[in-house]
Amino acid sequence: MIKQSLFGKMPNGELVKQFCLTNNHDVSVEILNLGGIIRRWLVPKDKHSPTDIVLGFDTVNDYLSDDSYLGALIGRYANRINQGRFSLAGSNYQTDTNLGDNCLHGGSQGFNSKVWQSTVLSNGDNPSIMLQLSSPHGEQGFPGALSVKVIYTLTEQNRLRIEYFATAEQATLYNPTNHSYFNLSGHSSGSVKTHQVQILASHYTPTDKNAIPTGEIAKVDNTPFDLRSMTTISQPLGSSHQQIEYGNGLDHNFCLDTYVPGSKVAFYVGKIIAIDSDHDISLNIYSNMPGMQIFTANHFVNKKGKGGALYQAQQGVCFETQFYPDAPNHAHFPSATLQADEEFYSVTEYEVLF
Ligand code: GAL
Repeated sequence: MIKQSLFGKMPNGELVKQFCLTNNHDVSVEILNLGGIIRRWLVPKDKHSPTDIVLGFDTVNDYLSDDSYLGALIGRYANRINQGRFSLAGSNYQTDTNLGDNCLHGGSQGFNSKVWQSTVLSNGDNPSIMLQLSSPHGEQGFPGALSVKVIYTLTEQNRLRIEYFATAEQATLYNPTNHSYFNLSGHSSGSVKTHQVQILASHYTPTDKNAIPTGEIAKVDNTPFDLRSMTTISQPLGSSHQQIEYGNGLDHNFCLDTYVPGSKVAFYVGKIIAIDSDHDISLNIYSNMPGMQIFTANHFVNKKGKGGALYQAQQGVCFETQFYPDAPNHAHFPSATLQADEEFYSVTEYEVLF
């Protein structure tokens, strides 16, 4: 079932709609046509008081004035591009730079800040909506007009499937993701440090102080980045490893072992579990992408969220499936180039178990 309502208005008067997708197990996910933002995700662990497992805001203005991308779709390029510079098919490009000298999440006017065209695809079992956006040639400095489509489906297996499609008029870069911050004990419950996590990654991409990859694809063995068996999040966060200091916590791209170039199948890549007296909710993650940024909201201080909640550092954790950061400047990273005659497809699924 899908319920549609008005969430608010953009500064230019454009309407921001909200779609509430509910399956037959009473799991419900609220999605805005602004940035494709996942605003609320209710898990009926307790029928009388469902748990809302994602961080979010209550107004359009809160979303537009914040720079943490809560729940949003990211484009054209998730994560960093060093100095916003890259070359493609013999031409050099300079994108918008919005984080020091670097480009973060597609520049200052990324896909997260756009109102997308929205269509309900299925209003019965497995409720589904489609969001579409046209990005003109040169937008934020990226070449080639790009048509993008994202389909959100809430399945009867309690999975939220996110499928990304795109075509371009000339060779360009495309690296989309979703930037949800999860807290399986509830968005207002405090830190996720006691959650346990597993990530099937034998390697990660270390960075410099500005979170730009050095180019190394490093083994996780004997480092706080070895999360291949269930690990309490406080363990890596408490480490004095230089990379954890650089990131002020976890803010790193993991190279997923399951990646098969060209595969359209979402493989199991990891999970997170909250174990406390009221909860025991877990989330399995599936994707066909080569990388996943794990980010523990390291810079949050009294961020005013939904219902007056005050979000602090480590109150949520993101699992941003993606190509590796700065891939266009590292020829040995899986390529994020989308050719003119190609159809881009990627898929990530988040499955709640409760
Ligand atoms: C993450 C990124 C962080 C931070 C965050 C947005 O994807 O890795 O460093 O910029 O987005 O606040």
